[in-house]
Amino acid sequence: MSEFKSKIKTIEWVDNYSKMVDQTILPYEFKYVNITTGQQMYDAIKTMIVRGAPAIGVAGAHGVVLYAQEFAEKDLSREEFIKQLNEKADYIASSRPTAVNLMWAVKKQKEIINNSNSDIAGIVEELKQNGIKLENEDIEINKRIGDYGAEVVPKGATILTHCNAGALATVGYGTALGVVRSAFANDPTIQVFADETRPRQQGARITTLELTMDGIPTTLITDGMCSYFMKKGMIDMVVVGADRIAANGDAANKIGTYTVAIAAKYHNIPFYIAAPLSTIDTGIKTGDEIVIEERSREEVTHINGKIICAPEVNVINPGFDVTPHELITGIITEKGILRAPYETAIADAFKQCE
Ligand code: MRU
Repeated sequence: MSEFKSKIKTIEWVDNYSKMVDQTILPYEFKYVNITTGQQMYDAIKTMIVRGAPAIGVAGAHGVVLYAQEFAEKDLSREEFIKQLNEKADYIASSRPTAVNLMWAVKKQKEIINNSNSDIAGIVEELKQNGIKLENEDIEINKRIGDYGAEVVPKGATILTHCNAGALATVGYGTALGVVRSAFANDPTIQVFADETRPRQQGARITTLELTMDGIPTTLITDGMCSYFMKKGMIDMVVVGADRIAANGDAANKIGTYTVAIAAKYHNIPFYIAAPLSTIDTGIKTGDEIVIEERSREEVTHINGKIICAPEVNVINPGFDVTPHELITGIITEKGILRAPYETAIADAFKQCE
């Protein structure tokens, strides 16, 4: 595992395929898989070989390139190529419903498909270049998020995080863990408490792995323990990622985040979201409009293929919850830290990009 460093690219376009770290087998094995068809990309996103909002955004963009390459091999008219590619782009975007970065990146590819004046080969090339551009931009954006976030990390802080919003949830560096990395670079006395994050244990399997590989002191706790440590005064701030943020600042993130935010509010601990502007969905007013992904019962009933409950028990498995904006101290973006009132702060941040 010595090669596992935050510098590793979680997902990367190589020649004519997409290469990604298989996150379903971490921490046991660190292996890349090559995704060579559009259908394989749909499955990779759905089964969480690639996961984390920004990473699946790039995966979606790559998926559109893969379908474009496949259709370019067929004897299609330009019009038919565009029609079929639009349908497959929508199909890729439907692989996971909550993380808006996926829809955002696929929309960027659709703008190329529908506005390009090039022939079929030219469109394929433009889509490929755009996929690579999104990849490179992601790392730059995360470093900016990290640097803004580091400014609000107190000296020697213990930072609690939930799920994995790290290098492996993005192309590299991470959002919430980007804040941790930037803070640690200035102050090696900071440390992290990582929630296990049931049911898929991204905190235990992925966050602890990538942080300890970078030499950042990390303590693993189970999901129910956060308020215990907050009460003891052992947590100074919370930083988590997001999968979709509404125009009023309500933020969807991995199930359990809302509980952490309530506990943080009760104990007067700052609670930050770290996310790129591509995670903000200005098309929805509040978090009530965010579609929450329902996942399989096996994720809850089994651990490592072994059943851990009565086989017939009822199970509900929402993948995400929404933290109301009142509980959020600030949203750390590549344009700075947005603070309440979030409607105005978000609108102003998007104006800066125009
Ligand atoms: O279901 P996952 O593992 O894709 O969920 C990931 C999260 O909830 C992350 O915290 C979120 O995507 C932010 S990633 C920078």
